[in-house]
Amino acid sequence: MSERFILAIESSCDETGAAVLCGRRVLSNVIATQKVHEKYGGVVPELASRAHQSHIVPVVHQALAEAGLTPRQLDAIAFTRGPGLMGSLHVGTSFAKSMAMALGVPLIAVHHMQAHALALFIEDGQPREVPSYPFLCLTVSGGHTQLVHVRAPSDLTIAGQTIDDAAGEAFDKAAKLLGFDYPGGPLIDRWAQDGDARRFHFPHPRVPGFDFSFSGLKTSLLYLLRDDEALRRVLTDFDRSDPPQLVRDLCASYQQTVVDYLLDKTFACAAQLDLRDLALAGGVSANSALRRDFSERCTRQGLRAFIPPFAYCTDNAAMIGLVAHYKLAAGEVAALTDVPEPRGLW
Ligand code: KG4
Ligand code: ZN
Repeated sequence: MSERFILAIESSCDETGAAVLCGRRVLSNVIATQKVHEKYGGVVPELASRAHQSHIVPVVHQALAEAGLTPRQLDAIAFTRGPGLMGSLHVGTSFAKSMAMALGVPLIAVHHMQAHALALFIEDGQPREVPSYPFLCLTVSGGHTQLVHVRAPSDLTIAGQTIDDAAGEAFDKAAKLLGFDYPGGPLIDRWAQDGDARRFHFPHPRVPGFDFSFSGLKTSLLYLLRDDEALRRVLTDFDRSDPPQLVRDLCASYQQTVVDYLLDKTFACAAQLDLRDLALAGGVSANSALRRDFSERCTRQGLRAFIPPFAYCTDNAAMIGLVAHYKLAAGEVAALTDVPEPRGLW
């Protein structure tokens, strides 16, 4: 049977995405990022759902146009069912249901975290090696921190996850404490480049097993700022185009603590589960120290490292379409009565 065309919609947080896939091959992958949250220093759920409402129709139009298809040529409509923000998920869910109903094609519900873990398998014409099953995926973003044991496309279990903040929040909240703009992760990364990661010491949070916790790290930064007046003074007013060494060292030290903590758990988990292929996913995988240390540690231990192209690391609809491809092939169709699952259901 020839490959089928799937339109996938992603609206779990603050990106409105639509993609068209033919089998595993991506024909278009459109994203509208919501700028409205920047001045609030974080995603405002109410504003996110409104922005999805205004973006979804143009984004879907563009995805179809770029794929060179009309709606009648679609074989299925997929959407992110969760986890995510309830109001945001509602927009994509309702839109997908209406479209599937109007076209008389199957509706497919996709778990956002399953999609992140499988994003490596998207085909876009670029030759790329993919991991062998089973593998371990560390998904780190503004909303998630999860170690996923992937045995097959439909057989995934969570080996560990954060019990409070996500890794991206650990960067963004730290940046906010330091007076940097939102999202602070990319800024910390940039300014850490020429910093001394050993200048400041932050303790590693202690959580049993392969779970993570980042809230204590934020508190230790808060205490450092409270107790170090000279540091506070420097942070109050410095040249953003050329930060002083102290700021660079602080960024490097904090970043390295997060990276070491993430990777110590990841490699311990891989050893315990006897996994040889390791993947990285989510927006925080853009972090240069994380990418560097992840690859270096894999090489040193004789393991294989896989990082999807950045467009498939951050929230996107192509990864939703990929999971939908597997589900459609397995006959796993959603019902029109299905509702969003903000907490996600594995
Ligand atoms: O997957 P993503 O684009 O979206 C959501 O989580 O919704 O991830 C965004 C997160 C933000 O917390 C941002 O600060 C973080 O990824 N991030 C980074 C870097 N680039 C993005 N964190 C550290 N270093 C980076 N280079
Ligand atoms: Zn995500």
